[in-house]
Amino acid sequence: MLSKKLKWYLLFEDRSELEDLLATKQSVVYKNIFGEVLLVKSNGAIYAFKNKCPHQNKSLENCKISEGHVICPWHQYQFDCDSGRGHGLNIDKFPLKFEGDSVYIGKEVWSLF
Ligand code: FES
Repeated sequence: MLSKKLKWYLLFEDRSELEDLLATKQSVVYKNIFGEVLLVKSNGAIYAFKNKCPHQNKSLENCKISEGHVICPWHQYQFDCDSGRGHGLNIDKFPLKFEGDSVYIGKEVWSLF
């Protein structure tokens, strides 16, 4: 039966690569095997979102991070880092998993099993 399952993809072999990317910035766009993700550092936590604002499908690159929110650089819509919610629209959020030194990103995929 066809169902959605969370599949994990290796994002960084070493967590320090991710920490280095966000050492001097609060957000960075990073390309992986399923497209661009926006990596965000907020209040000591790291989040991953699809790099597309749901308002007009523009890139969130150069967004601002303030009080736990991603602020789109185009029209300043704000999205909560924990839920992705804001202005009746949501940005797509990807879970991150830290295992040993490695960092994985999760994406829902259709599966027969
Ligand atoms: S494109 Fe992001 S708020 Fe308009």
